[in-house]
Amino acid sequence: TYVITQPCIDVKDGACVDVCPVDCIGGENEDRQFYIDPERCVDCDLCATVCPVDAIFREEELPPEWEHFTRVNAEYFTES
Ligand code: F3S
Repeated sequence: TYVITQPCIDVKDGACVDVCPVDCIGGENEDRQFYIDPERCVDCDLCATVCPVDAIFREEELPPEWEHFTRVNAEYFTES
């Protein structure tokens, strides 16, 4: 799965939402960043390609300081 990280915060460009073929990116209104649903992400890589601030990484390739975003992304969908 892919994970949205720190650079998205307060940027929320939204390009990723437009290209996602399975519409698995949430966080539209209330939050400071967007999130990817790990249950629905199909690993297409499109979101990571279009993000202008390079906020999106494969879970396996997350920079160490941003590894906690795996949980942050998943929790958005389990708690809502
Ligand atoms: Fe955020 Fe980048 Fe998407 S800034 S909303 S992850 S295109």
